[in-house]
Amino acid sequence: MSNYQAEINKRRTFAIISHPDAGKTTLTEKFLLYGGAINLAGSVKGKATARHAVSDWMEIEKERGISVTSSVLQFEYDGFCINILDTPGHQDFSEDTYRTLMAADSAVMVIDGSKGVEAQTRKLFKVCVMRHIPIFTFINKMDRDANDTFDLLDEIEKELGIATCPINWPIGSGKRFKGIYERDTRSVVTFSDTEKGTKEGEETRISITEEEQLNKVIGEDFLDQLDQEIALLDGASAEYDIEQIRRGELTPVFFGSALTNFGVEIFLHHFLKMTTTPLPRQADIGMIYPLEKEFSAFVFKIQANMNKAHRDRIAFIRITSGKFEAGMEVKHVQGNRVMRLSQPQQIMASERKILDEAYAGDIIGVFDPGIFSIGDTICMPNDSFLFAGIPTFAPEHFARVRQMDTMKRKQFIKGISQIAQEGAIQIFQEYNTGMEEIIVGVVGVLQFEVLKYRLENEYNVEIRMEKLPYEYIRWIENKEEVDLDKLIGTSDMKKIKDLKGNPLLLFINQWSIGMTLDRNKELRFSEFGR
Ligand code: G4P
Repeated sequence: MSNYQAEINKRRTFAIISHPDAGKTTLTEKFLLYGGAINLAGSVKGKATARHAVSDWMEIEKERGISVTSSVLQFEYDGFCINILDTPGHQDFSEDTYRTLMAADSAVMVIDGSKGVEAQTRKLFKVCVMRHIPIFTFINKMDRDANDTFDLLDEIEKELGIATCPINWPIGSGKRFKGIYERDTRSVVTFSDTEKGTKEGEETRISITEEEQLNKVIGEDFLDQLDQEIALLDGASAEYDIEQIRRGELTPVFFGSALTNFGVEIFLHHFLKMTTTPLPRQADIGMIYPLEKEFSAFVFKIQANMNKAHRDRIAFIRITSGKFEAGMEVKHVQGNRVMRLSQPQQIMASERKILDEAYAGDIIGVFDPGIFSIGDTICMPNDSFLFAGIPTFAPEHFARVRQMDTMKRKQFIKGISQIAQEGAIQIFQEYNTGMEEIIVGVVGVLQFEVLKYRLENEYNVEIRMEKLPYEYIRWIENKEEVDLDKLIGTSDMKKIKDLKGNPLLLFINQWSIGMTLDRNKELRFSEFGR
């Protein structure tokens, strides 16, 4: 195997998804600890930046000239080269959070054991399902009182519609958390929180057959309960099936406590064995496989620089095949232009590192002189194909936007269009009128602030924003078959169109969506725009 093949085969690129506070940052820190990327946990991102308020956010962006939330972390562990993609949450939740998942080959879903499946996890999960990528579940905070284990699994299956296969099983929780039972080795790993933040300290592993010792360590009651639960589990749970896992139909489930560093290395060990090498991507000429010699990549995120002095942008690209070398000539297919990607860099937490080479599976940031759009294809100069593109995801907040000074119409349109091109916002128009009224849709409300701030600071345009009550948007999948003028909607429904002229519908609640579908039998909705 050539060197470049070996490099690609050792890559594992995944995103961590969770609801805020479930422990995503803590778990990431512990991963880095095992990779030796940091000495002590706690340095992935300061809490202050993770939980910043709007005004802080602007300041931080300005100071660093890069989004503090755009983390791609690369580290080596056990012969693997791991790329972790952070999916920003809290107020930073935006369409980028969804798009990040387009660059990942699998997802780790972190769930708080006392909360179960929460709203943001549900949303991100839908995108993983759309992509059929493997999803691994880490049920965290077992050192706190957790919900009943069977109930947790049941919730995942019912709420998310994915079968579960526990790889290990918790023994108690909270103050009475004793450890986990590992199903493949049929042994109990006992809980110790002496490891707090360091990787020293050997775990104690006791075979399930060592009854006497187990009685001593976890107690007779727990042992009895464990015996019963194992019997139930072996009888009732889905069988381990790597093919189903790879297709995203079955999620392996692990338990642990990221804070006390318990169950994290066990997770990492199994996860790295089960997850995939870089996945191929669909293009108009067929599948593009990672091991193909020719370099190719697609743009999945564009980060504008908030610093006025550096009005550049960074395009984040996912390498889909071959090897990238700094200085090589590539083709930007959409722009039909041969160019060199300048300042190729890897973003390590908040640090940028200029790189010489990168391989399929890697995520790199490149300087964008304002030519790239989300979903664009980059390939070798002699090639010409297009990757399938990245869908647009349903915004949940809408506002009507006008410029205050009517003389500044041109700057306003230019600014708002450029910001939309970067993918920070989506813009729509009234269905029957021209460009006069602009409706802006965003996934996270912070994007409204960003829009206002940037229009004022970069384009010198002040705007008035009128929030609209809609929360749901639907694309019409079979738009050719539907006559929008004859559509029988609900009184709160609003017809709009995107810049390509595609019709869309806005709704205030889910009930109206159901009602509209009921009244128009031929209508098919989609939550993703193509
Ligand atoms: P997030 O990135 O998913 O938003 O979550 P994060 O890791 O920041 O964790 C949220 C809070 O939960 C933090 O506490 C963190 O210490 C705690 N936490 C994470 N994993 C565990 C765990 O396994 N057990 C327990 N008991 N707590 C856990 P915080 O008080 O908000 O922050 P901090 O001041 O402790 O840093």
